[in-house]
Amino acid sequence: MDAPFILLGPLLSPSGMDAADWLPDGALVVDEAGRIVHVGHAASIATTMSPYPVIRTNDLILPGFIDTHVHAPQLDCRGRHGADLLQWLDSYIYPAEQRFSDEILAADVSRRFFASLVSAGTTTALVFATSHEHATHIAFAEAEKCGMRIIMGSMLMDRNAPAELCVDRCSAEAAMGRLIERWHLATPLLRFAVSPRFAPACTLEMLRMAADTARRHDLHIQTHCNEALSEISLMQQLFPHSGSYTQLYHSAGLLGTKTILGHNIHTDQAQLRLLTESGAAVAHCPDSNLFLGSGRFPLDEHLQAGLRIGLGSDVGAGTTVHMLSIMRSMAHAQGKSLHPLLPLYCATLGGATALGLEHETGSLTAGKSADIIIMHIDNLLCHGSGDVGVVDVASALVYTTPEERVRRVWVAGKELTIR
Ligand code: GUN
Ligand code: ZN
Repeated sequence: MDAPFILLGPLLSPSGMDAADWLPDGALVVDEAGRIVHVGHAASIATTMSPYPVIRTNDLILPGFIDTHVHAPQLDCRGRHGADLLQWLDSYIYPAEQRFSDEILAADVSRRFFASLVSAGTTTALVFATSHEHATHIAFAEAEKCGMRIIMGSMLMDRNAPAELCVDRCSAEAAMGRLIERWHLATPLLRFAVSPRFAPACTLEMLRMAADTARRHDLHIQTHCNEALSEISLMQQLFPHSGSYTQLYHSAGLLGTKTILGHNIHTDQAQLRLLTESGAAVAHCPDSNLFLGSGRFPLDEHLQAGLRIGLGSDVGAGTTVHMLSIMRSMAHAQGKSLHPLLPLYCATLGGATALGLEHETGSLTAGKSADIIIMHIDNLLCHGSGDVGVVDVASALVYTTPEERVRRVWVAGKELTIR
């Protein structure tokens, strides 16, 4: 059912890293424009008086999940073992991305990619496409059909990769102009992100062009940074006078408040300070880091530096698109007990904040877009939710809820199809 409607049931909405609103008998009103206009106790609204249809549920009402780092063309590459990041890219990822020159394949994978995100309860994602312009148009068309909120860009790379994936700077700039025109400026839920793959695959001129384009059009920038030791050594060989990875991106003009860096594992205090000063955000991808053996993300150091942190599935180094699993991996990867409200925040409001979309999505708050999911979590709610606390619910969700429990998904008040 599309908006307008009233949703009645148990409602959980993160409000901070260690806080959430929990309404066992909640009510949420979504208006004709797909915006949340009221959130409160069921008793606070007189449903009999409202002209809107009412949806009642015993399942949990949540904001949709936000995946801040994921690769659409890598959907079918999950679980391909590699010795390390660079060997894995060469063996599996570059060949898979080359196959996106085939439009039928590109459409098929893109369609299945967005459908699987929706079925996992993800309503917003920051996505890498391939370096092909036409395959990126196809991916945007599929994103539009599925109805998600998507920020996406074609991969920029002009060296150290198969020739079929490299695009020279001028052609890449012109292609971005067309993609911005066709999608970013023309569709309410879709935005274009400037997406240099990582320093080893880009010349300095390419990195600078990326930064200029983003500045000119006020676009997000997404890239990889400090993921693997072998990658950092290669960056240092290619840019011997640049200083740290973060300094290189800074001097190329890539760091700003709309920049989201994937990984940032092998970092240090000076780099964290530079990121904080520049206002950049970090996409933490724990499942990917565990799979590739890239290292342990310094979570406490990032939090102490005051950086905005979102969670990313990083499919296909990540083995699943399910943010529920990614939240669990975040906890497990730290090797210590993690309060469940922190991963839940990073997968919702924290992700929205990392993307600068915290006024639009990420929590169930009046004034925001109705990006909502309903999930079945049986081990608590079926016994009656009256005496269950917010931490109990978040803990059950993050640590025990099976992945297939997403029941309904809305973006901007429009109900999406779960396959
Ligand atoms: N670094 C550069 N490209 C990639 C990629 O596709 N996946 C991951 N995990 N890291 C990268
Ligand atoms: Zn990635």
